[in-house]
Amino acid sequence: MTRSVDILAERLEGRVPKLAIVLGSGLGGLVDELENAVRVPYSQLPEFPESGVTGHSGDVVAGNLGGRQVIILSGRIHYYEQGHPAAMRPILETLTGLGVTSLILTNSAGSLRKTIPPGSVMLITDHINFSGTNPLFGEPSDARFVGLTEAYDRSMSAALTKAAKAERIALKGGVYMWFSGPSFETPAEIRMARTMGADAVGMSTVPEVILARFFGMRVAACSVITNFAAGMTGAELSHGETKEMAPMGGAKLARILKRAIGDLA
Ligand code: HPA
Repeated sequence: MTRSVDILAERLEGRVPKLAIVLGSGLGGLVDELENAVRVPYSQLPEFPESGVTGHSGDVVAGNLGGRQVIILSGRIHYYEQGHPAAMRPILETLTGLGVTSLILTNSAGSLRKTIPPGSVMLITDHINFSGTNPLFGEPSDARFVGLTEAYDRSMSAALTKAAKAERIALKGGVYMWFSGPSFETPAEIRMARTMGADAVGMSTVPEVILARFFGMRVAACSVITNFAAGMTGAELSHGETKEMAPMGGAKLARILKRAIGDLA
């Protein structure tokens, strides 16, 4: 057990969440819906990495959502911050040590499909890692040969689809392609991504999915679409737009997650 596991176990005061949710940029609103919540800053957890971007890397927030205990990770560490594809490994390892067995990853993404416009939510059904890197580089055990044929858990994905229907929110499935960032893609890269079968592009999630499968967790993931990808509209992309647009789709995603929680945790 690491010290972070011990510290969190103590701070959680008997809560035993089996489900964790990682919130992407601009999607922090779900934290406010937790009842009887306890918040622990990453800076108090020794194994958690520091994020150099803002000096405030994030919080672990545990509480009750729709009658179930969950852990929300508000703030992720991206590959583009330090060039470490395994930056999230200590965080996911800590969750595993705490007894978390299911993980929902959320992100903001650019859409390659006119039918999945900004403001909508996409269920990630598969991914493309064309980055040339992998969070399991350097892992010595044979466990590094993680099978990803069913990386995205069918029953968790079905629960999210059912919840979206009940909330009357469109939730199309699609393939998420990981680009390293932090610069956005070029129009030519987006044409390549489309040819390869991508429906959305983004700068996170894929390394976390690989790590979570390595640790034996069940995984589901959703993208909040904040923009059409580079070259699709002629407009330049910006992080400001991502942050500005994320709350619209984020509110839909929060409703889906809240509705699905009984089937997920
Ligand atoms: N590309 C990569 N990451 C993103 C995008 C995008 O268009 N939008 C939000 N995150």
